[in-house]
Amino acid sequence: MIENHLLQNYRSAPVTIVRGEGCYLFDDSGTRYLDMIGGITVCVLGHAHPEIADAIAQQARTLVQASNLFGHEPARSLANELARRSGFDRVFFCNSGAEANEAAIKLARKFAYRNGETRRRTILSCTGSFHGRTLGALAATANEKYQEGFDPLPGGFRYTRFNDVDALKKAIDDSVAAFIVEPVQGESGIIPAKVEFLKAARELCTQHGALLIFDEVQCGMGRIGPLFAFRHFDVRPDVVTIAKALANGLPIGAMLLTERVAIGLQPGDHGTTFGGSPVPCAAGMAHLRIRDAIGLERHVVEMSDVLFRELRAIADEFPDLFGEPRGLGLLAGLPVKEPHDAAALVTFARENSRVLLNKAGNNTLRFGPPLIVTEEQLSVAMSALRAAAQSLVVSVA
Ligand SMILES: Cc1ncc(COP(=O)(O)O)c(C=O)c1O
Repeated sequence: MIENHLLQNYRSAPVTIVRGEGCYLFDDSGTRYLDMIGGITVCVLGHAHPEIADAIAQQARTLVQASNLFGHEPARSLANELARRSGFDRVFFCNSGAEANEAAIKLARKFAYRNGETRRRTILSCTGSFHGRTLGALAATANEKYQEGFDPLPGGFRYTRFNDVDALKKAIDDSVAAFIVEPVQGESGIIPAKVEFLKAARELCTQHGALLIFDEVQCGMGRIGPLFAFRHFDVRPDVVTIAKALANGLPIGAMLLTERVAIGLQPGDHGTTFGGSPVPCAAGMAHLRIRDAIGLERHVVEMSDVLFRELRAIADEFPDLFGEPRGLGLLAGLPVKEPHDAAALVTFARENSRVLLNKAGNNTLRFGPPLIVTEEQLSVAMSALRAAAQSLVVSVA
């Protein structure tokens, strides 16, 4: 038996990945898998991208860590580039999506506090949301499945129904410091927000003096098309959090904010040892440079059409097994109907077709491939899905 002292907090498949290349992963026996997960919507430019590897290596030979006691070029460049592309004024770097949301939660409260509004404490979030596993982000994650057994969670969090404008009207009052929302809910099964919901959120937040925070950790960085999801919805939040894809696989998170709200966090208010360290920032810069050079945004739109056309066809072929596909860009969810289990499809596709699929919440198959995925690769993945569906239908019949 292979020695394994890793904490058993993940339900890892019995596969040891040793290498990646583009949209493929290779295990320790040399088997090649087509990857429709991309490190959970992280490796947008594929695995082991040579130019990103070069940028990482060059930065690692130059400077790996300087701390935030000093300035350095990689963080400054990436912050400037993100500001230029987003229209936001300030960028705070951290190491993950949860940390970016923690920063946003702290910012919202401190912003109110600095404005003399010491009673404005509430963080409002949506049912079905996922904002991360640290205690603050978990308190904002309105899902019993993730919160159970971790009480007492930090106080001052309230929830409102996702995509319900009337409920939001009732929920936002002058005690709300911020409303945090995913433009596309990811972990709960790829559910896009309605444009009118996000527009109403913008209006209500402005009206009541609350900050509007978009958690684009999963749906940002070009996953649904534009680099920032807020552009798709044409709604401008006060704060955006990103992570996952920013450095194509290296750990990094970021909070983008306007100058107006940036006064919330001043020297000493918040920080992290590794946040914005040179190597992930150099990888982030390389990622942004490459995505422009290859016209990634256009490619996502084209591949999205292919993916959704195929998913709709498969859903029509297996009406007892699948519901309507949901999502935007290259973030798609295919709901699996009871009594079937999406996990069985994932296992079948991996073991029989060497295609890696993923189950998200609410018994949904999630598709979040590298954004460089080709039409041929999508077609291979869809054949694997059909074969898996066939096996389930046959085995149940
Ligand atoms: C929308 C959203 N927010 C936050 C997070 C947490 O990010 P991380 O796992 O990097 O802490 C995730 C992770 O899946 C996410 O999908």
